[in-house]
Amino acid sequence: MKTTAIIKQPIEDEMELFESKFRDSMTSKVALLNRITHYIVNRKGKQMRPMFVFLTAKMLNNGEVNERTYRGASVIELIHTATLVHDDVVDESNKRRGFFSVNALWKNKIAVLVGDYLLSKGLLLSIDNGDFDLLRIISVAVREMSEGELLQIEKARRLDITEAIYYDIIRQKTATLIAACCSLGACSVQPDSADVETFRKFGELCGMAFQIKDDLFDYGDTKIGKPTGIDIKEQKMTLPLIHVLNICSKEEKKWIINSIKNHNRNKKRVKEVIAFIKDRGGLDYAVEKMLLYRNEALKLLEGYPPSVYKSSLELMVNYVVDRKK
Ligand code: IPE
Ligand code: IPE
Ligand code: MG
Ligand code: MG
Repeated sequence: MKTTAIIKQPIEDEMELFESKFRDSMTSKVALLNRITHYIVNRKGKQMRPMFVFLTAKMLNNGEVNERTYRGASVIELIHTATLVHDDVVDESNKRRGFFSVNALWKNKIAVLVGDYLLSKGLLLSIDNGDFDLLRIISVAVREMSEGELLQIEKARRLDITEAIYYDIIRQKTATLIAACCSLGACSVQPDSADVETFRKFGELCGMAFQIKDDLFDYGDTKIGKPTGIDIKEQKMTLPLIHVLNICSKEEKKWIINSIKNHNRNKKRVKEVIAFIKDRGGLDYAVEKMLLYRNEALKLLEGYPPSVYKSSLELMVNYVVDRKK
């Protein structure tokens, strides 16, 4: 059986019900919006965020979830979807989940508005049901994600990113939402327990490993449903590159920075930079760091009693770093 099928086994019923609720949560009276949201939900992603929500909630609450858990999972997936629609505008990316991105099909204007619509639908789902504790968790994540994407742009312009700033960026733009999944899952069933914070931290560590993996995909040429090799073109500096800049000679550094600054749309030059980064162990270094985050995440689970949910969460942590897309 596939790893994802094994992970999903203990939350199969919840994921099925979630999917129909998630679909319903997007509907609008505007036909154009409905057409686009249909297009989006019919090309679903890995749904890792709702899986984190349900696995955490069930593990902490003897296998029981409630309506708050479902709403929380929908809000998170709505916000995740909104950020992907916006991110593809920002990154000028024309592919998502193996198909054309919203901006590629309907242009930037519409993609920006659709992203805003999904974000507002997410927030209203919490507000309309009085889930204010969950709304706080989610709103913090939304703020952090925007800050993270902007910090990334600021650093891309100056090309002066350090390893510490890279971790800040990925913590904000990606890890906080996965942290929100796990703390929200815990909070939905046990509002005032210490587990809410433990699982926030757990999700954050998973999220760090998750984005390092995503950044590694960009250096590969396997089919992952979205373009690869675009980070350098977009002057986005990720861990393999940052590491190699730290260990190479002054001349080499000058060549790399000049390539990224002035030749980032020259395919041959970008390929040379990528080859250089690989040759100098940039990918190996990033893998090493990614596995450290994975190990820390697994350590946080150690104190909890064994259960099918815990086993799935452990598999999920490993899936974050072993996944093929
Ligand atoms: C993509 O997230 C955005 C990042 C934070 C790297 P996913 O890889 O979870 O996207 P889908 O939902 O499965 O398409
Ligand atoms: C993901 O960053 C962060 C988001 C908030 C969406 P990326 O730009 O690396 O994500 P992909 O690779 O386009 O999915
Ligand atoms: Mg992107
Ligand atoms: Mg990426």
